[in-house]
Amino acid sequence: MKKKNNIVLIGFMGVGKGTIARELYKQTGKFPIDCDDLIESATNLKIKEIFEIYGEDKFRKIEKDLAKFILNSIDNSIISTGGGFYKAKNLAKFGKIIYLKASFDYIISRIKNSPNADKKIAKRPLLANLDEAKKLYNERDPKYAKKADFIVNVENKSPKQIAKEIKKLIKG
Ligand code: S3P
Repeated sequence: MKKKNNIVLIGFMGVGKGTIARELYKQTGKFPIDCDDLIESATNLKIKEIFEIYGEDKFRKIEKDLAKFILNSIDNSIISTGGGFYKAKNLAKFGKIIYLKASFDYIISRIKNSPNADKKIAKRPLLANLDEAKKLYNERDPKYAKKADFIVNVENKSPKQIAKEIKKLIKG
């Protein structure tokens, strides 16, 4: 299968994948497909509940099934992934892979300074322990970079600026 025409946003929890996907929608008219939203609507459970009731392995299994569905069925879209989605088989074929990159400290302060900070932290089980989350960040950062067609540093840039940058890179 050749590379699809999707824009796939990968990166750590809280870096702003959903926000950038919505901005890209504004600028391109292409609808964003949010992986975690699809998992929540398919199961009628919040991500946090899936982790609590069935465990992380079950969540990863559903995430894998969703990845298969996207690869078989979705094109010409903006795909906003969960932080662990980058492991999907054949990710390169999903489309242009964009790693939205920021330092761990920047991401945490972005979340903490956002309007619904408590909610944003509470809905992400893997952010519950910041030391563990930092370890996960350090482990994943090089992996995200390796999977990416383009790395976009998002620090101190507006969503509008970031989306423009992505469009330019893709046209390349
Ligand atoms: C996860 C990130 C979350 C969500 C789940 C697991 C991860 O998505 O998929 O809690 O493994 O990094 P966001 O990146 O949108 O927070």
